[in-house]
Amino acid sequence: MNTETIHDPSQPVPPPAARPVILSPIIAIDGPAGAGKSTVARHLARHFGLLNLETGAMYRAFALKALSANLSLQDIPALVELSHRTSISLVPTDAGNLVFLDGADVTSQLREPAVTDGASRVSVYPQIRAWMVALQQELGAQGGVVMEGRDIGTVVFPHADVKIFLDAAPEVRGLRRYEQLGQLDPETAAEVQPEEVVRELRARDDRDRNRADSPLKAAEDAVLLDSTKLTLEEVVAQAEAIVTEKLGWSPAQESDRGC
Ligand code: DC
Repeated sequence: MNTETIHDPSQPVPPPAARPVILSPIIAIDGPAGAGKSTVARHLARHFGLLNLETGAMYRAFALKALSANLSLQDIPALVELSHRTSISLVPTDAGNLVFLDGADVTSQLREPAVTDGASRVSVYPQIRAWMVALQQELGAQGGVVMEGRDIGTVVFPHADVKIFLDAAPEVRGLRRYEQLGQLDPETAAEVQPEEVVRELRARDDRDRNRADSPLKAAEDAVLLDSTKLTLEEVVAQAEAIVTEKLGWSPAQESDRGC
């Protein structure tokens, strides 16, 4: 029997299946350090009128508190106890996120090498991750966000509307970090060799990728974007195209969304 549906000419032709327009999207940007996540996330947030939330800054803020309290970053019970009396919040601004730790703005302290290293160490503990993930889910619950991290598309928002996994060769990421350091803090950069920055970045990568709980990896449905041979402008343009395609709207359509 022929099961093919035959259109009844007395009925109007149905419109082609319309793609739903997503109004308050969650965009997950994951990947290792130095792949360009922050630049891409900041640009997408500005371009599409969304909030940019940097989850790495939350791990950094907690590491800062633990280091300031002279805790060993291996003392799990003490770290867990500390987390119970810690409040961390992100305030998105045009220039990036302001990070408040127990009500104080600690943004300027979060890029120090000891804090960078410490964040990677405290983030291996499941109890600390569970606390952070719950906070991040609360922050993004209403949608309308670009959330950047290591486990956003896999754990924090596995049903994110768009998932991009940004990667690049370790040497390229290390050199980008070295150049950033030179711009932010020329004195420290003058004392550091580029090879050292690449070595530290690889060590952090190893920890992030090989931890038992929520290791850094691409979600199965993430779009992979390798920035090794691209300029940041090119990466940003590609990320923008991916989001436009997935969401079914671009900033020009904001009035249609009631923005
Ligand atoms: O993105 P970042 O360099 O600021 O992150 C600092 C550390 O925090 C990073 O080494 C791994 C950890 N991190 C994480 O485990 N999960 C996230 N969602 C974000 C960061």
